[in-house]
Amino acid sequence: MTKKMIASKVKFYESIDCFSKTKIFVLGDLMVDKYIYGKVSRISPEAPVPVVEVTNEKTMPGGAGNVANNIAALGGEVFLSGTVGTDNLGKELIAELSNQGINIEGIFEDDSRPTTLKTRIIAHHQQVVRCDWENRSHLSLSINKKILNYLKNIISKVDCIIISDYGKGVVNPFLLSKIISLTHAYSKVIIVDPKVEHFLRYRKVTIVTPNLVEAMAGMHWHRISSEKDIEELGKKILKKLNCLAVLITLGEKGMILFQYSFAGSKLQITKIPTAAKEVYDVTGAGDTVVGVLSLGIASGLDIHDSAYLANYAAGIVVGKLGTATVTTQELKETIISRGVYFK
Ligand SMILES: Nc1ncnc2c1ncn2[C@@H]1O[C@H](COP(=O)(O)OP(=O)(O)OP(=O)(O)O)[C@@H](O)[C@H]1O
Ligand SMILES: [Mg+2]
Repeated sequence: MTKKMIASKVKFYESIDCFSKTKIFVLGDLMVDKYIYGKVSRISPEAPVPVVEVTNEKTMPGGAGNVANNIAALGGEVFLSGTVGTDNLGKELIAELSNQGINIEGIFEDDSRPTTLKTRIIAHHQQVVRCDWENRSHLSLSINKKILNYLKNIISKVDCIIISDYGKGVVNPFLLSKIISLTHAYSKVIIVDPKVEHFLRYRKVTIVTPNLVEAMAGMHWHRISSEKDIEELGKKILKKLNCLAVLITLGEKGMILFQYSFAGSKLQITKIPTAAKEVYDVTGAGDTVVGVLSLGIASGLDIHDSAYLANYAAGIVVGKLGTATVTTQELKETIISRGVYFK
């Protein structure tokens, strides 16, 4: 890492101390991630499937709930919006999010769908099966309006808006277009973690953070055979969506940032290698990326440095089991150990 690579309004390390002053609005698909662990020692007499003897189980907030958890774990104030069903699972999810200090007034009950639940059954560190309970239809007009009214009430005090689109129906064309207009009217930064179905509807957001598969599918690309192709793809997305930056996450290869400099229209492409030392579980690393990116920007870092910070955080989170979060202490330790310099 050279001095030239890190250049910010505020010092990189110090920005982490500002996380606790940030206010982030997160809208998206809320879900519950359930993990059932067990052992297999026989095949079922009923069908040719393994019998899992359950030893342990745990549940945690997933999707936009995991984005919110990641921000809250780093001290940011989160205003979370989305829906749950009228079931007990939804009430438990809201209680858990509230326990993490997340503002839950923007979460609404929707009697037309269950709380989204993804249950994974894992035996001997291998996933045996995943069962999903969900209804992916679009939200009703009345719930769209409730979410919009909630955002209108708080938008002036938030620093950044995140859309965490898991394609489960909360992020629908009507709501998306209203929110994008609102963020422009209030000159707020809006970051979208996209899903393929809505890709072209994210026009004029500040930043999109697709992984490579989403970036390709969103632009109807079927093949990438070189780094040059990825560069071409990033440039095309930037142009097509007319946003300030595109951050494509590349799994074990880290991420690549495309942005126009504020001063002019010069395109900058920054390749950021992964900071991971050990990799145990990559689930939810994308949620950490979008959460920390928003915290960096809300704390005064520029997009480039915020992407570095997000990459460090993702490098930590993939070293933990399950849908996990990062602490400010861990982030500071990583920065120190990497010898990051300031301008
Ligand atoms: N196998 C890996 N080895 C090292 N770093 C990784 C690995 N997988 C992910 N990362 C880190 O996490 C970041 C985000 O990962 P990824 O590109 O898999 O996002 P994603 O597909 O959106 O994740 P998800 O949707 O599961 O949350 C990467 O940019 C990288 O920094
Ligand atoms: Mg993702």
